[in-house]
Amino acid sequence: MDKQAHRKDEHVFIAEKFYRPQAQTKLDQVKLLATNLPELALADVDLTATFLDQKIAVPFFINAMTGGSEQTGKINARLAKVAAKTQIPMAVGSQSIALKLPSLSSTFEVVRQNNPAGFILANLGAHHNLTNAKRAVKMINANALELHVNLAQELVMPEGDQSFYWLANLKEINSHLDVPLLVKEVGAGMTPRSLMLLKEAGIKYVDLGGAGGTDFVAIENERRENKELGYFNELSLTTAESLLAAQTFQADFSFTATGGIRTALDIIKCLVLGADNVGLAGHFLHVLLRQGDDALVTEITNLKDQLKRLMVILGCRTISDLKTVPYLLSPELVNFKDQIASL
Ligand code: FNR
Repeated sequence: MDKQAHRKDEHVFIAEKFYRPQAQTKLDQVKLLATNLPELALADVDLTATFLDQKIAVPFFINAMTGGSEQTGKINARLAKVAAKTQIPMAVGSQSIALKLPSLSSTFEVVRQNNPAGFILANLGAHHNLTNAKRAVKMINANALELHVNLAQELVMPEGDQSFYWLANLKEINSHLDVPLLVKEVGAGMTPRSLMLLKEAGIKYVDLGGAGGTDFVAIENERRENKELGYFNELSLTTAESLLAAQTFQADFSFTATGGIRTALDIIKCLVLGADNVGLAGHFLHVLLRQGDDALVTEITNLKDQLKRLMVILGCRTISDLKTVPYLLSPELVNFKDQIASL
């Protein structure tokens, strides 16, 4: 098997091995203030959200994971059927390998075949140029493109990239691609300085990709012979921290939150803290691999139902109402927020 294809299998295997039901997002340090008198019926709640300026029925989606090997092509096929049944958007994993080895494009194309009318996102690393970005979008007739920025992952990956001139590509792709571009972290969070650079490059959509769930530093470290770089994840911002750090940029971007999302309450907290929609990867993979396709459909259906119930407890009829929910932060997060705002 091709080395890169083998890596795709390893990512799935190690991500699942490291999966923990209790994520370390620090969202547990955010306390939402409920209402006792909502003046609202469960049936009035509207989960419609926006994603890349388009309407989506519910505020969450299946984020980028896989494709690029026979085994991961099968996972993509299954995820796509679940996405079609539950009508939520889905991103594929990095298509880089299929640009190099066209025989592997079928492991991504199957996502469109199994979900012809669905909202599907293509995915590549930020070093790819406009031509490759167009090829990736065309491969699966994608509605949008995710370009991942994964600096820590590359530097821990045994065979990772060592040169990171990404901004010019992002700018070029953003202004010439005919579908929207979402710039996406994979679990290290985004700092205000990076958001400022993305803003200057004209980027509008950012997945803050915080730490606390799937940890690509840990995954790539596991693939290293001496496993000596695991501590690099100390530089990451958790999902809660990344959302707080991004709050001063609310007017500049539409944010997606990803990283360690497990429950409907996690989703709600991200929306309260400023995200417009939320991506889940490792948790959905875990349910699919451990319990099967029907269980994942049920999990997604339950998330939708629980979101509605929680919104009544918070007195919110719409997703945008969530932005007005009052919340309290732990002393640790207050300190974080104060310090990051004063930089
Ligand atoms: C990922 N993720 C990912 N992201 C990306 O942009 N391109 C990719 O190819 C992959 N590959 C990948 C493989 C596997 C097995 C997993 C679990 C994840 C990252 C993913 O989209 C997400 O940003 C992180 O996993 C954090 O979210 P969770 O997993 O904590 O919900």
